[in-house]
Amino acid sequence: PSVTYVDADGERRTVEAAPNATVMEVALKHDIPGIIGECGGACACATCHVYVDDEWTDRVGPAEDMEQGMLDFAFDVRENSRLSCQIFMTPELDGLVVHTPVRQG
Ligand code: FES
Repeated sequence: PSVTYVDADGERRTVEAAPNATVMEVALKHDIPGIIGECGGACACATCHVYVDDEWTDRVGPAEDMEQGMLDFAFDVRENSRLSCQIFMTPELDGLVVHTPVRQG
């Protein structure tokens, strides 16, 4: 499945994800700027914060409680904010678009 990262300047980067990799892992593997993933995907750092594109929020779904709690530590949290280490690239998410924030933390 492919995933597109749009940075704060509007630059788009589309890469291919390994099946069931997280959106954070895929970003790190492809050197996508704007995602740090300090805790390695344990939902414990909030440096993998992204905004899910409006077209995709229904399919991606909302954050679970633990993730929501961790999101409180992220910068400029919005309704469509998610921690990208908690989004798994299933075939249904092929073509997913996420936006990276101006900064992490
Ligand atoms: Fe740390 Fe996602 S990588 S919360």
